[in-house]
Amino acid sequence: MDIYELIKNDHRRLLDVLDSIEATPEANAEQRKRLFSYFRTELMVHAKPEEEIFYGELRRSDLGRHLVQEAMDEHHTLERLVMDIQTSSAKDDDWIGKLRTLRQVLETHMQKEESEYFTLGKQLFQAQDAEDIADRMLAEKGRYGMENPVAVVGKKIKEVLG
Ligand SMILES: [Fe+2]
Ligand SMILES: [Fe+2]
Repeated sequence: MDIYELIKNDHRRLLDVLDSIEATPEANAEQRKRLFSYFRTELMVHAKPEEEIFYGELRRSDLGRHLVQEAMDEHHTLERLVMDIQTSSAKDDDWIGKLRTLRQVLETHMQKEESEYFTLGKQLFQAQDAEDIADRMLAEKGRYGMENPVAVVGKKIKEVLG
Protein backbone atom coordinates (compact mmCIF):
# COMPACT_ATOMS: atom_id res chain seq x y z
CA MET A 1 0.00 0.00 0.00
CA ASP A 2 1.29 3.45 -0.81
CA ILE A 3 0.65 6.71 1.01
CA TYR A 4 -2.14 7.73 -1.37
CA GLU A 5 -4.12 4.57 -0.80
CA LEU A 6 -3.59 4.80 2.95
CA ILE A 7 -4.81 8.39 3.16
CA LYS A 8 -7.79 7.68 0.89
CA ASN A 9 -8.77 4.73 3.08
CA ASP A 10 -8.62 6.92 6.16
CA HIS A 11 -10.76 9.56 4.46
CA ARG A 12 -13.40 7.02 3.46
CA ARG A 13 -13.42 5.65 6.97
CA LEU A 14 -14.03 9.12 8.45
CA LEU A 15 -16.95 9.71 6.08
CA ASP A 16 -18.39 6.30 6.99
CA VAL A 17 -18.48 7.32 10.63
CA LEU A 18 -20.15 10.63 9.75
CA ASP A 19 -22.73 8.70 7.68
CA SER A 20 -23.56 6.57 10.69
CA ILE A 21 -24.00 9.65 12.88
CA GLU A 22 -26.29 11.30 10.35
CA ALA A 23 -28.30 8.07 10.09
CA THR A 24 -28.86 8.06 13.86
CA PRO A 25 -32.28 9.51 14.74
CA GLU A 26 -32.35 12.83 16.58
CA ALA A 27 -34.13 11.15 19.49
CA ASN A 28 -31.06 9.01 20.08
CA ALA A 29 -28.74 11.81 21.19
CA GLU A 30 -26.66 9.51 23.40
CA GLN A 31 -25.76 7.34 20.43
CA ARG A 32 -24.91 10.37 18.29
CA LYS A 33 -22.58 11.53 21.03
CA ARG A 34 -20.84 8.16 21.34
CA LEU A 35 -20.35 7.92 17.60
CA PHE A 36 -19.03 11.46 17.51
CA SER A 37 -16.42 10.66 20.18
CA TYR A 38 -15.33 7.74 18.03
CA PHE A 39 -15.16 10.05 14.99
CA ARG A 40 -13.02 12.45 16.96
CA THR A 41 -10.52 9.70 17.79
CA GLU A 42 -10.43 8.51 14.18
CA LEU A 43 -9.84 12.07 12.98
CA MET A 44 -6.99 12.61 15.42
CA VAL A 45 -5.38 9.30 14.51
CA HIS A 46 -5.55 10.35 10.87
CA ALA A 47 -4.55 13.99 11.13
CA LYS A 48 -1.61 13.78 13.53
CA PRO A 49 0.33 11.08 11.63
CA GLU A 50 -0.61 12.82 8.37
CA GLU A 51 0.96 16.05 9.65
CA GLU A 52 4.05 14.30 10.98
CA ILE A 53 4.76 11.98 8.09
CA PHE A 54 3.03 13.01 4.85
CA TYR A 55 3.15 16.77 5.35
CA GLY A 56 6.66 16.40 6.76
CA GLU A 57 7.75 14.92 3.42
CA LEU A 58 5.88 17.49 1.30
CA ARG A 59 7.58 20.29 3.23
CA ARG A 60 10.83 19.44 1.50
CA SER A 61 9.73 21.52 -1.51
CA ASP A 62 8.79 25.22 -1.69
CA LEU A 63 5.33 24.48 -3.07
CA GLY A 64 4.94 21.79 -0.41
CA ARG A 65 5.74 24.22 2.39
CA HIS A 66 3.07 26.57 1.08
CA LEU A 67 0.47 23.81 0.73
CA VAL A 68 1.25 22.42 4.17
CA GLN A 69 0.76 25.83 5.76
CA GLU A 70 -2.69 25.96 4.19
CA ALA A 71 -3.46 22.40 5.26
CA MET A 72 -2.41 23.08 8.85
CA ASP A 73 -4.79 26.05 8.95
CA GLU A 74 -7.55 23.75 7.74
CA HIS A 75 -6.69 21.15 10.38
CA HIS A 76 -6.98 23.87 13.03
CA THR A 77 -10.35 24.95 11.68
CA LEU A 78 -11.49 21.32 11.82
CA GLU A 79 -10.27 21.00 15.41
CA ARG A 80 -12.27 24.07 16.40
CA LEU A 81 -15.42 22.72 14.76
CA VAL A 82 -14.91 19.34 16.44
CA MET A 83 -14.46 20.92 19.86
CA ASP A 84 -17.58 23.00 19.37
CA ILE A 85 -19.65 19.93 18.51
CA GLN A 86 -18.06 17.85 21.27
CA THR A 87 -18.95 20.44 23.89
CA SER A 88 -22.53 21.06 22.73
CA SER A 89 -25.50 18.89 23.52
CA ALA A 90 -26.53 16.45 20.80
CA LYS A 91 -30.10 17.39 21.75
CA ASP A 92 -29.55 20.97 20.51
CA ASP A 93 -31.47 21.82 17.35
CA ASP A 94 -28.33 23.00 15.56
CA TRP A 95 -26.15 20.02 16.51
CA ILE A 96 -26.69 18.14 13.26
CA GLY A 97 -26.27 21.42 11.32
CA LYS A 98 -22.87 21.88 12.95
CA LEU A 99 -21.97 18.33 12.06
CA ARG A 100 -22.90 18.98 8.42
CA THR A 101 -20.76 22.12 8.37
CA LEU A 102 -17.87 20.08 9.73
CA ARG A 103 -18.45 17.49 7.04
CA GLN A 104 -18.36 20.14 4.30
CA VAL A 105 -15.09 21.61 5.55
CA LEU A 106 -13.63 18.12 5.95
CA GLU A 107 -14.70 16.98 2.48
CA THR A 108 -13.24 20.08 0.84
CA HIS A 109 -9.98 19.56 2.71
CA MET A 110 -9.80 15.87 1.78
CA GLN A 111 -10.55 16.56 -1.88
CA LYS A 112 -7.68 19.04 -1.95
CA GLU A 113 -5.35 16.51 -0.37
CA GLU A 114 -6.36 13.82 -2.83
CA SER A 115 -5.83 16.12 -5.82
CA GLU A 116 -3.20 18.87 -5.34
CA TYR A 117 -1.26 17.20 -2.54
CA PHE A 118 -1.17 13.78 -4.15
CA THR A 119 -0.07 15.37 -7.44
CA LEU A 120 2.82 17.07 -5.68
CA GLY A 121 3.66 13.87 -3.81
CA LYS A 122 3.83 11.97 -7.09
CA GLN A 123 6.32 14.55 -8.39
CA LEU A 124 8.46 14.35 -5.27
CA PHE A 125 8.37 10.65 -4.34
CA GLN A 126 9.36 7.54 -6.30
CA ALA A 127 6.91 4.61 -6.10
CA GLN A 128 9.06 2.92 -3.45
CA ASP A 129 9.19 6.14 -1.38
CA ALA A 130 5.40 6.35 -1.49
CA GLU A 131 5.22 2.86 0.05
CA ASP A 132 7.87 3.63 2.67
CA ILE A 133 6.03 6.78 3.68
CA ALA A 134 2.81 4.75 4.04
CA ASP A 135 4.63 2.26 6.29
CA ARG A 136 5.88 5.10 8.47
CA MET A 137 2.43 6.66 8.69
CA LEU A 138 0.92 3.27 9.57
CA ALA A 139 3.50 2.80 12.32
CA GLU A 140 2.66 6.26 13.64
CA LYS A 141 -1.07 5.41 13.58
CA GLY A 142 -0.23 2.20 15.42
CA ARG A 143 1.22 4.24 18.26
CA TYR A 144 -2.36 5.37 18.88
CA GLY A 145 -3.51 1.77 18.87
CA MET A 146 -5.52 2.03 15.67
CA GLU A 147 -6.02 -0.73 13.11
CA ASN A 148 -6.13 0.41 9.55
CA PRO A 149 -8.42 -1.56 7.21
CA VAL A 150 -11.61 0.20 6.17
CA ALA A 151 -13.49 -3.07 6.72
CA VAL A 152 -12.98 -2.58 10.41
CA VAL A 153 -15.23 0.50 10.51
CA GLY A 154 -18.55 -1.33 10.58
CA LYS A 155 -17.28 -3.52 13.38
CA LYS A 156 -15.96 -0.53 15.32
CA ILE A 157 -19.22 1.34 14.95
CA LYS A 158 -21.04 -1.68 16.38
CA GLU A 159 -18.58 -1.78 19.28
CA VAL A 160 -19.08 1.90 19.95
CA LEU A 161 -22.82 1.39 20.02
CA GLY A 162 -22.41 -1.62 22.32
FE1 LIG B 1 -5.47 16.62 6.32
FE1 LIG C 1 -6.24 13.71 5.24
